[in-house]
Amino acid sequence: MAIQALRGTTDLFGDDARRWAAVEHHVKRLCRAHGYGEIRTPVIEDAALFLRTLGETTDIVQKEMFRFEDRGGHDIVLRPEGTASVVRAYLEHNLHKTIGFAKLFYLGPMFRAERPQAGRLRQFHQYGVEAIGSYSPWIDVEVILLCLDILNACGVTETTVWLSSMGCREDQQRSAAQLRERLASQRAKLCQECQKRFDKNVFRVLDCQNPSCHGIAWGAITGSPFLLCGNCEAHFTAVRQGLGQNGVAFDDTQVFARGLDYYTQTVFEVRAKGLGAQDAVAAGGRYNHLVEDLGGPALGAVGFAAGIERILMAQGAVPAPVERPKRHGVYLAVAQPALIGRAFQQVTQLRAQGVQVLMDYDGKSLKAQLREADKAGCKFVAILGEKELEQGAITLKDLDAQSQETVAVEKFAESVGKRTGHACH
Ligand code: HAM
Repeated sequence: MAIQALRGTTDLFGDDARRWAAVEHHVKRLCRAHGYGEIRTPVIEDAALFLRTLGETTDIVQKEMFRFEDRGGHDIVLRPEGTASVVRAYLEHNLHKTIGFAKLFYLGPMFRAERPQAGRLRQFHQYGVEAIGSYSPWIDVEVILLCLDILNACGVTETTVWLSSMGCREDQQRSAAQLRERLASQRAKLCQECQKRFDKNVFRVLDCQNPSCHGIAWGAITGSPFLLCGNCEAHFTAVRQGLGQNGVAFDDTQVFARGLDYYTQTVFEVRAKGLGAQDAVAAGGRYNHLVEDLGGPALGAVGFAAGIERILMAQGAVPAPVERPKRHGVYLAVAQPALIGRAFQQVTQLRAQGVQVLMDYDGKSLKAQLREADKAGCKFVAILGEKELEQGAITLKDLDAQSQETVAVEKFAESVGKRTGHACH
């Protein structure tokens, strides 16, 4: 039987690869414009990093990590998310001492052994930002605005922002006690796992896939499940005001559970129209204890991550006009297969000048080569034939202008370079 890609993984090519590259382009452009610099961290990390940060009762840690022992006996995980890695790198490279407040963005594959379904993959790709070293509510506002700016640039405009505050650690303890009280009378009806969650981390009961637990847990929540102290209430008000002043509509009446334990205060999710059950395209929030939990100083931090596959799905649900790319580059067509070697030399010279150039190596007919040039979107077609070479010339056609001229062989690379502006797009 033919070998196929693993379930929950995808191959990327053609139009999807083009749309993907456009998403990456907008991410890099807008993150840089907002003052975020790129960081790339390894795909494999010490398992302890995620065990210590994501929460031992979370689904990710309990069931979804691709975890293995390497030959040296090290406990290794394929990263399920980027925040913990970025904070580890921030501390490992002493950025808290050298730059203090750091604004970083990343792009790359993440891995979760979830049950695959539309929009839920085992290898998926996120871009995200992390602003580490500030407690200011303005950073929360900046991060949410940046998140929406990128989605808008990608054509994902029909979105809803769900906004909430989980309070500080003390607030979370009080809120957990309240939820336990509300659930206490139905505790015996919860599944075994949820009974454990009830004691250890009661909010994780909200993640249970078992319909009975789900009904009991969500039924116990009326109004906001989080009790906020004065300081957290003021922070949340400032975030809401900042978003309002900058024209961001949000819904702060929805109750939703983030699947990671490190959050404090602001949490948000951006849901996109037409995605079905997995409709969160982006999500994030504040994590004011993560730096400290990883051995660093007490520093506030906030960030978000978005799933690129879900963005492509959301684009598909509300089709964006596909721009036909501008013609660019050169196709060097060979009239006789015997001239492939000569043509290859020209191609090498052009490539050395940064000109994007294609040619055929298989002796296709001239007509087939011209068709290929058109399909590839080339702006110029150069034709190299015996007759032309005898006269020391190459014919150059401009497919946009529908014009044609003859260029001296020895000047060919230089003159094409000039016409294309040495352009390799
Ligand atoms: P998350 O909510 O787990 O948060 O993931 C963020 C986004 O990644 C989701 O909204 C979704 O678009 C995408 N995503 C997650 N799991 C999958 C999957 N199995 N298949 C496809 N897409 C998926 C985080 O990862 C946090 N690190 C976000 C953050 C950054 N919080 C603060 N800073």
